[in-house]
Amino acid sequence: MKKLLITIVCFCVLSISVQAQTYVPTAENLQNRKEFAESRLGIFLHWGLYSMFAQGEWYMNSANVDAQEYAKAMNAFYPHRFDAREWVSAFKAAGAKYICFTSRHHDGFSMWNTKWSDYNIMNTPYGEDVVRQLADECHRQGIKLHLYYSHIDWSREDYPAGKTGRGTKCLDRADWPAYYRFMNNQLTELLTNYGEIGAIWFDGWWDHAADSIPFDWELEEQYRLIHRLQPGCLIGNNHHQSPFDGEDIQIFERDVPGENKMGFSGQDIGVLPLETCQTMNHSWGYKAADQDYKSVKELVHLLVRTSGKGANLLLNIGPQPDGTLPEAALKRLSEMGKWLASYGESIYATGAGGYSLGDSIITTRNDNHLYIHLLDTAIDHVSLPVPQKVKSVEALGENCRVDYTYRRGNLDLKVDIPDDCIDYVVKVTFK
Ligand code: GLC
Repeated sequence: MKKLLITIVCFCVLSISVQAQTYVPTAENLQNRKEFAESRLGIFLHWGLYSMFAQGEWYMNSANVDAQEYAKAMNAFYPHRFDAREWVSAFKAAGAKYICFTSRHHDGFSMWNTKWSDYNIMNTPYGEDVVRQLADECHRQGIKLHLYYSHIDWSREDYPAGKTGRGTKCLDRADWPAYYRFMNNQLTELLTNYGEIGAIWFDGWWDHAADSIPFDWELEEQYRLIHRLQPGCLIGNNHHQSPFDGEDIQIFERDVPGENKMGFSGQDIGVLPLETCQTMNHSWGYKAADQDYKSVKELVHLLVRTSGKGANLLLNIGPQPDGTLPEAALKRLSEMGKWLASYGESIYATGAGGYSLGDSIITTRNDNHLYIHLLDTAIDHVSLPVPQKVKSVEALGENCRVDYTYRRGNLDLKVDIPDDCIDYVVKVTFK
């Protein structure tokens, strides 16, 4: 009885102290959050062994490929045309402010020189550390590197399989403590050997979301480890829930915050910096059969809509097995870069405009300026209440003009939008 009492007391003290450890971000972290929140465009890269099968990054799971058979692809991975400098230059020219790279996806293959698993890039014929090359190049070109890290592993038997990866490996040898140690060792490596890492982007929590006994991912301790190693490193988790304690950004998958067309994003918009990740076609990892890319216009509209919610767009590309980026993606990147070079002031470092005017009229705001983005060329007139006195109203871009009247707190705009216009941006400057 006495023993039981002591155990209960210990448990209570422990849970109080665990609860008390509410995360307090450092000044450096807060500064990084601010920079992140001003970035607006990041490039997501899904590149790994799965690229060789050219059927997207879920191929192993969807086709129930045995882990040992799948791993044979490692003996042929030779992306001889990979050039980190070319990639990073293309992303910068596109106007992106950060890159998020899949260091290890659900298939369990590590794209860096890790001593914690032989299943890594150094043991391919290519034999070079991809994360190292990207990190060095990002640091050289002054763009942040974020690392995607999967909580799931369809190859390692110590990872206790959830709802996925049930047909790829033996399920009887799960050993969570061993797997947890392995992940933390790998994360320590990534956060120690590659200079500043802008963010760790976790994915896979949902694998155990439907367990009858709630699964404990021990995230708090893992998050503490990351913040101890790099206090400025932002933590995001694609768990499709409201942010957990210890996280620095809120992620939405394939939906502009506040929308839920894909079924992953019912969560409320919280106070942390926001990010929406989305594909250029329909796939994250390279899929030869999927050439259905969004048009430049659709991509710019997506960027404008996410900006209109005060969120970043993390736009995905699935690099090819030879190490090059698909031509279709490169073309779109360069067009987006041109558009941002002219209209970037209405996107970067803006916040949500604060109006709800439907899908075709989006507003962003920056200090003394309100930007009204007209996404439908049929719009010829807009009327909206503005609380501050208006100093000037102009249309951004060459040969664009706007007629306006401002009376009793109401702004009326008249525009004539050319048919080929992607986004007619009206800039209102307040007194
Ligand atoms: C989903 C997918 C994963 C992809 C991620 C990107 O979680 O499982 O393959 O990496 O979305 O947002």
